Amino acid sequence: MRGCGLLMIGCIVAGLGLSAEAQEPRRAFTPGQVWAATDGEHINAHGGGIIYRDGTYYWYGENRAARTPGGPRVASPGVQCYSSTDLFNWKNEGVVMKVIEDNPNHDITRGCNIERPKVVFNQKTKKYVMWFHLELRGQGYSAARSGLATADSPTGPFTFVRSLRPNAGIWSIEFPESSRTPVTAAEAKELLQGQNFRPGLAAGVYARRDFAGGQMARDMTLYVDDDGKGYLVASAEENYTLNIHELTDDYLDFTGKWTRVAPGGHNEAPAILKHNGKYHMLASGCTGWAPNPARVLQADSIWGPWKNVGNPCAGTNPQNNLGPEKTFGGQSTCIFQVAGKPGAYIAMFDEWRPRDLRNSGHIWLPVKFDGDRMVIDWTDKWDLSVFDK
Ligand code: DGJ
Repeated sequence: MRGCGLLMIGCIVAGLGLSAEAQEPRRAFTPGQVWAATDGEHINAHGGGIIYRDGTYYWYGENRAARTPGGPRVASPGVQCYSSTDLFNWKNEGVVMKVIEDNPNHDITRGCNIERPKVVFNQKTKKYVMWFHLELRGQGYSAARSGLATADSPTGPFTFVRSLRPNAGIWSIEFPESSRTPVTAAEAKELLQGQNFRPGLAAGVYARRDFAGGQMARDMTLYVDDDGKGYLVASAEENYTLNIHELTDDYLDFTGKWTRVAPGGHNEAPAILKHNGKYHMLASGCTGWAPNPARVLQADSIWGPWKNVGNPCAGTNPQNNLGPEKTFGGQSTCIFQVAGKPGAYIAMFDEWRPRDLRNSGHIWLPVKFDGDRMVIDWTDKWDLSVFDK
């Protein structure tokens, strides 16, 4: 009978979707394995980012709804938040920016696609500012807009402000005077025919096409520099070029100063850190949800020039036998510094499951430096003591 009682408790716990294991506090990162929040559910915050405020970390990401048969696989109720004081154990804070249910014409009406949300705190306005990649409902990936929302508290609610394509009608700082003529979509297509494609890309044919309506902005991140200046970095020009757009002091708009990084380089999934005065941008190639090799772009100034210094990854993920050639099965989304530990950075990757985005995996790995070269070694299990060595 005693055994039966224990079994009963086990059944009740299982029925609630809680596993005994999920109740044990976590004391280590186990990259690529199921990562349950304190509610027992795998963390549903993808393409995400982390901020630290007043002793607590907040993890924002894409909440991907369970897929309904025949429904869009990217369906989402909005942006999800989790909180933690130790980076291992995360409390579900719910959907902090919800899609709009009762207005089919709203930019973030249900059925839109919200990707890679990032939040920063503005010291001057005391607002939490969220930017995200927004695709309008029913338009695939063609809208390529930046969405903006703000909140007074890290756990929201975030209020949607607007969406737009950055820097309409403004040329990037280095755009050659001689090329500063907008072209139509048909003219751009013509200019990029055959052998002209690569040189045309580098010369900014897509940027000229998108001049009037604003530059495309897909995979994105936010970066706040030591001087408090904020930047939105986004894949543009059909994902061939990354753009860095300077934000206004309140982070709610663009100043009009922007630059094209690695034109034609085909980079997405950007994440930035600054180490020993140099900027390091981790990024991926463009192969949809499938993994590809990571790469680091490096610069002495945020305005470039940025140079590709190669793949920082080493080792093999034994769960899928993938190494640097496929970024262990992951794609970068954010790099953040451990609070109070200068030089201690964690790189976050998504291990996408395109048929079941909700259960996409999380790969967190420590970032090391060999001189100026970023190194990300596969590690099965680790904790913050790696930074003490
Ligand atoms: C790769 C991007 O990094 C993801 O965020 C997502 O947009 C997929 N492409 C869609 O194919």
